[in-house]
Amino acid sequence: MTTIEGLAKNGELHPVQAAFKEHHGLQCGFCTPGMVMSAADLLKRNPNPSETDVREWLEGNLCRCTGYHNIVKAIRAAARALAG
Ligand code: FES
Repeated sequence: MTTIEGLAKNGELHPVQAAFKEHHGLQCGFCTPGMVMSAADLLKRNPNPSETDVREWLEGNLCRCTGYHNIVKAIRAAARALAG
């Protein structure tokens, strides 16, 4: 089992973590570990998710701060980064 602490490798953020940082996908950070781990799992299963796919995948992850827009944006950016 991988946790958020194990996602970065050799001091480099995982592409999902980097995308959350770049696209301001977090505010207080309370929900962020769950969002990032869930997003990484989604991108393993579906490397090119639509906005609807992302929103449906995250429906069990609640964020009180962001309104989800930048979270979705970050995950779709991470998908593009992982695709090269
Ligand atoms: S960033 Fe605060 S709950 Fe999501």
